[in-house]
Amino acid sequence: MINGERTIARPLRWGMVGGGRTGQVGYKHRTGALRDGTYQLLAGAFDLDAARGRDFGTRLGVAEDRCYATYQELIAGETAREDGVEVVSIATPNFTHFEITKACLEAGLHVICEKPLFFTVAECDEVAALAREKGLIVGVTYGFTGHPLVHQMAAMVKKGMLGDIRIVDMQYTHGFNSGDDTGAGEAVKWRTNPATAGSTFVLGDIGTHLYYLSEVVLPHLKIDKLLCDRKAFIPTRAPLEDHATVLTHYDNGARGRLWVSSVNAGNMGSQRYRFVGSRASVEWSDAHPDQLIYEVQGEPNRTLHHGMPYLEEESLAVDRMGALHTEGLGDSWANIYLWIAQAIDAKQRGDEAFLSSHHYPGIEAGTEGVRWLENCVRSADAGAAWVDYQ
Ligand code: NAI
Repeated sequence: MINGERTIARPLRWGMVGGGRTGQVGYKHRTGALRDGTYQLLAGAFDLDAARGRDFGTRLGVAEDRCYATYQELIAGETAREDGVEVVSIATPNFTHFEITKACLEAGLHVICEKPLFFTVAECDEVAALAREKGLIVGVTYGFTGHPLVHQMAAMVKKGMLGDIRIVDMQYTHGFNSGDDTGAGEAVKWRTNPATAGSTFVLGDIGTHLYYLSEVVLPHLKIDKLLCDRKAFIPTRAPLEDHATVLTHYDNGARGRLWVSSVNAGNMGSQRYRFVGSRASVEWSDAHPDQLIYEVQGEPNRTLHHGMPYLEEESLAVDRMGALHTEGLGDSWANIYLWIAQAIDAKQRGDEAFLSSHHYPGIEAGTEGVRWLENCVRSADAGAAWVDYQ
């Protein structure tokens, strides 16, 4: 169980790029990072609007002279200080991730970046090589995979409790973009423009969460081939999609079905996962993250609750609130940030043995998400054809 005791020697000196007052995801970062005393928010280039960013930063408790107008100024200002930040989170639109990450790494700063990490696998490989050369960590905020019951599913699969995995069924949908984009805010505008979003809309925006969570639960399954069918129901969003389905063949013979959509009108279900094995199935949704449905063929169905002693050690180890009390998205983000802090701390101490067995979403996880997107787009652009996974 995690109880807030500090697990690294001292808090990491932390800065943020983006995630300003009007940003959607910034508070999730701060909720995650500031929970366990493992990060201290000391600097930021929080906003494209420099004055608003400064006002916002000072209200977060950041010194005025460390609220910068641009990320370039942040890097210059902080690297010139003895007590400058050592890790920077990037919570800006997709098209900026690559250049800001590279600039931070080149300046010797660890990075925690939003997903989808970059536009291409080639960019991911370039950054992975740079991080390796500089001895720095790149963490990726797949914020849903800190939930304790995600790790319960992974442990049950590992123990063979489901039998051989046969079916992977995943859905992340909502209806917020069911209407057209007249009068849309900034967050919708950049998401529906290939120049700022990359080669996908909902596949990258929400589908990468499904894909990464499936990697956490089923690390032994690799994709052989997939078929992706995507469509823009609102034509102005083309060539990007507001709806997609992906069929998957895995190397163990399992079959997958994935649905992402932001035009599922009225739907507030968010994410749903069902992993079916030869003996039993598990089903989990982030709408009810405290509960896991466990169905064994021929037995009464069970609902497992987070924090209960009958759960696997791997799940209990990352529980924060304890059974009976709600454990939610903020707790999941706190776990992600804690695991990345532990990775940075180990890197700084040169503890490669710790790093080799430490679980956190790093550059490989970010790269695999981008690889999945590239394969989806290749299939969709070939007319929803089956493609070998590359
Ligand atoms: P947003 O458009 O709501 O906010 C972006 C923020 O970044 C704003 O504060 C803006 O002023 C600032 N900004 C933009 N360019 C900047 C720059 N060059 N320098 C400094 N600040 C800059 O975007 P949203 O929805 O917060 O998404 C940001 C990123 O987070 C995206 O990559 C998105 O895919 C990801 N995201 C991830 C989620 C998750 O669960 N991990 C959830 C929501 C978004």
